[in-house]
Amino acid sequence: MEKKDLDVLLKEKRVFKPSKGIVEDSNIKKWMDEHNIKSYNELLEKAEDHRWFWEEMAKELEWYKPWDDVLEWNPPDAKWFIGAKCNIVHNALDRHMKTGVREKIAYIWESEDGRLRRLTYEDLYKEVNRFANALKRLGVKKGDRVSIYLPMIPELPIAMLACARIGAIHSVVFSGFSAKAFAQRVNDAGAKIAITVDGFYRRGGVVPLKESADEAIQNAPAVERLIVVKHAGNEVAMKDRDMWWHELVKNESTECETEVMDSEDPLFILYTSGTTGKPKGVVHVHGGYSVGVYTTLKYVFDLRGGDVWWCTADVGWVTGHSYIVYAPLMAGATSVMYEGAPDYPAQDRMWEIVERYKVTIFYTAPTLIRMFMKFGDEWLKKHDISSLRLLGSVGEPINPEAWVWYHQMIGGGRCPIMDTWWQTETGNFMISPYPVTPLKPGSATKPLPGIEADIYNEDGKSITNKGGYLVIKKPWPSMIRTVYGDPDRYHKQYWSMFPGVYLTGDMARRDEEGYFWIQGRSDDVLKVAGHRIGSAEVESALVSHPAVAEAAVVGKPDPIKGEAIEALVILKRGVNSSPELKEELRIHVGKELGAIAKPSTVKFVNDLPKTRSGKIMRRVIKAKVLGEDVGDISTLANPEAVEELDRAV
Ligand code: WTA
Repeated sequence: MEKKDLDVLLKEKRVFKPSKGIVEDSNIKKWMDEHNIKSYNELLEKAEDHRWFWEEMAKELEWYKPWDDVLEWNPPDAKWFIGAKCNIVHNALDRHMKTGVREKIAYIWESEDGRLRRLTYEDLYKEVNRFANALKRLGVKKGDRVSIYLPMIPELPIAMLACARIGAIHSVVFSGFSAKAFAQRVNDAGAKIAITVDGFYRRGGVVPLKESADEAIQNAPAVERLIVVKHAGNEVAMKDRDMWWHELVKNESTECETEVMDSEDPLFILYTSGTTGKPKGVVHVHGGYSVGVYTTLKYVFDLRGGDVWWCTADVGWVTGHSYIVYAPLMAGATSVMYEGAPDYPAQDRMWEIVERYKVTIFYTAPTLIRMFMKFGDEWLKKHDISSLRLLGSVGEPINPEAWVWYHQMIGGGRCPIMDTWWQTETGNFMISPYPVTPLKPGSATKPLPGIEADIYNEDGKSITNKGGYLVIKKPWPSMIRTVYGDPDRYHKQYWSMFPGVYLTGDMARRDEEGYFWIQGRSDDVLKVAGHRIGSAEVESALVSHPAVAEAAVVGKPDPIKGEAIEALVILKRGVNSSPELKEELRIHVGKELGAIAKPSTVKFVNDLPKTRSGKIMRRVIKAKVLGEDVGDISTLANPEAVEELDRAV
């Protein structure tokens, strides 16, 4: 698109109304008709009775035993579908064995080097059962934790589903995280079994993940077995405790009974970054999570029989858990799963995939959209991507410029964009349009039915047209149940600022029409290329280097990544600063945490602004880095540090 065309579109403060065809044909319209609801606004009103709404939604799934009551709410502890018995895998796999979905493709998997695998629902069912039986043979029981360190290969969903089937709790760790980060999460979860791969493909090379797993397990003594998927074929050293996946499952039966779970039994732990250096193990459960992820996908992305769904996230993050693994399988959808870099071997790799598999719904992150925008429109023109009918965005606010480009160039002006705001903790989409919702570029529109979001000022008063704290005022089925092993942290982090109200950690504004505009995090969590990283984690990684005395990390706006990490470092006495040392520190953070957490810039300073109690004031540093007014600095112990910052930035 020409720059001038984009400028015109952007100036038009226009509301994009969905076409009549899309509205009439949508899943949500059918649902509204069945419930005698005339309009989207009426639906939102009616769903203020959140028990009613979620009970209706829960009826769309199969349960071994229905609930005695919908909700038990002792703030901040919620239980949903009390007394119900279920297993998410029953809805994701078992129930399809009785229908035509059995023969349908569940995953079309493609690797960077062009390898292809298609798994039907029946194939997946059998593989899951074989692996579930193998886990049982290794002594894994209901409630045991299994740590999974796998890239985007079919064995990742298979391993997750196998755990869930036998009632074990999976803890998937993104394969881009370092050995140290993996070890920390294995130890926190207390896992006895870990699963990894020999290696995986990235930009033409092989990443030897088994080596990182070995290093991690040296520091995770409770791990008894490491199961290794043979995938890239790179040479690996197998130790006594190691077992090859393919040998383990070789003689296992393709049938395995599904464990009957209570709806509140834990399904998984997923670690995410918070305000301290220690990641939080977010716990989700079988019942409420099933209801939430399944119905949000079905109604927001309007999924139906013939769709080919492609969510480009990694399964190692919540987006992949909810919307590559559980929800699409429960919906009986065909999903594309891609292992590799989005721009390899050429910048049209994604469009080639869309064309090849006739993808109908494409869900990605603003950082990728901005990257494609930069590559230029000619890459798109090489492919027929007219199979697309709906688009989605997640992970950070999408700037209107990228929204309009996405809408015009990828969506051909005809595909509505579902900008879905949510979090690891929320489990499913929270603020998001339906295909029937009028769209405003850059706004995630309104809270979904059954979700009561609000904007509060410091005093906990609801405000409109001003930035404030984004909060959720009523419990919802797929909400976080606790922080694994640390219920106090769960209470303090999310429920203490406004008692009984869930604090999201985001700032947002609501306009006169009730549309929400997300502004970004209010805490010290960074969003780098959509990945959630804690400032404190990067700082403690820096400080663990022998040359570093103190460090502060802030996010700086970046045109592609959204935010880039800027690190300010005080070196230990006697250490000489040099460009090589800067690079060494970047590499050090990569080793400690993973490549995604590497600072884009490192600057050496002699002082950092601190409070009288010695706490580094990131707020002041951030203002300086952004070139903004530093505000009130009367509480600083060392105001001269502000001048030092001027010199450094
Ligand atoms: C941000 C990712 C604006 C937000 C699913 C949130 C968004 C954090 C959006 C959670 C969106 C996610 N618009 N911001 N559509 N979606 N965010 O846990 O800051 O990795 O708090 O979950 O991402 O990140 P997480």
